[in-house]
Amino acid sequence: MENRIKRNDFLKSLGLKGASLMAVYCGASALSSCQNESGVSPSGTIDFTLDLTNASYSALNTVGKYITINKVVIARISATSFAAVTQICSHEGQPQVMYNGSGFSCPAHGATFSITGEKTNNVSSKGITAYKTTLTNTSLRVFS
Ligand code: FES
Repeated sequence: MENRIKRNDFLKSLGLKGASLMAVYCGASALSSCQNESGVSPSGTIDFTLDLTNASYSALNTVGKYITINKVVIARISATSFAAVTQICSHEGQPQVMYNGSGFSCPAHGATFSITGEKTNNVSSKGITAYKTTLTNTSLRVFS
C-alpha cells in the first residue's frame, strides 16, 4: 500500500486552504512565482544599447516620440533626456504601456504613470518599473 501523500492533500489535511494554502506554497518557493504580477516587468536585468542612427530607432531623435523594444517603452522627453519603463502595465499585466507626451499610460483601463514610473491615477495600485538611460553620442543605453 502506498503511504505517500500528495503535498496538496497533506496541507489540506492540516486545514490549510485558500489564501493560507497559497501562503505555504509561496513561502516554500520563490515568492515572486506566486504573485499575479509575474509579467509586470521584463524578467531579469535590462541592459541594452540602441544606435539612434539606425532607422528603427530614429523616432527617439524627436522630442515627444517613443519606441517599444524588448518590452521596454523608451521616450525622448527633451533634447537631452529620455525616459524608459516596462511595457507591462502593473494593473492587470497588459503589455500596452505607451508614452502619452507627458508620462506613460495604458489604454487597457486607463492607468497613468509619471516619466519615472510612479502611478498618477488610481487605476493601478502601484507604479511600473522604470529604467535608467544614458546617451553617449548616438548610442542610447537602457539599463536596470
Ligand atoms: S492593464 Fe493597464 S490599465 Fe489595466
